[in-house]
Amino acid sequence: MLNHRNIEIAPSILSANFSCLGEEIRAVERGGADVLHVDVMDGHFVPNITIGLPVVKSLAGYTRLPIDTHLMITDPGIYAPQFVEAGAQMVSVHVEADANLHRTLMAIKAGGAQAGVVLNPATPVSAIEEALQFVDYVLVMSVNPGFGGQKFIPQSLDKVRRLRQLITERQLNVRIEIDGGIDRTNIETVVAAGAEIIVAGSAIFATPDAEAAVKELRNATVQWV
Ligand code: DX5
Ligand code: ZN
Repeated sequence: MLNHRNIEIAPSILSANFSCLGEEIRAVERGGADVLHVDVMDGHFVPNITIGLPVVKSLAGYTRLPIDTHLMITDPGIYAPQFVEAGAQMVSVHVEADANLHRTLMAIKAGGAQAGVVLNPATPVSAIEEALQFVDYVLVMSVNPGFGGQKFIPQSLDKVRRLRQLITERQLNVRIEIDGGIDRTNIETVVAAGAEIIVAGSAIFATPDAEAAVKELRNATVQWV
């Protein structure tokens, strides 16, 4: 049941030092990270511009960790398959950004990657009631997307609980990922609510020791593993 789940720690490289990204990634690998979370922003869907396909391609040839691309872009249907092609094993698309979500999810899966759907803080769980049966995971945003280092929105916990309940009721094999404002003070609470893939950016990379920070987050969830 709830306390025998596979909890995965997913460092978000958004807060990493890009001038030595390779070393930053080696550090979280040593710390025992499970997934590498890559935030792709286009300056349209969110008011920030980050990184894209060439970086994902380089990282795919560099790290042994599966790459989880979180697409905060308009027209995700055009680009999602390209991220699969670039080497991402997980690709998530915002429900708010895609009028043809089913088609995009199917294209991600057809490419051999896991398909995820993302909910912004003000988007209700009901927005993905139909899409739920077509996804491998749901990403619940616990901040408004666009920037690292923001404060966790506490109402996200209830959303995770309701989503967990829906998944259990329907007996679906869908994982819940949570992203934004997670640190060692609240990670236990988000895991208890039902999240399994835990994204953390500043709590890992804005510290002097990213390796130790991953271990600390892991230790805080140890009773669930
Ligand atoms: C925000 C991104 C997050 C961000 C998390 O738009 O999707 O992945 O990097 O950063 P923290 O953990 O600092 O909130
Ligand atoms: Zn993200």
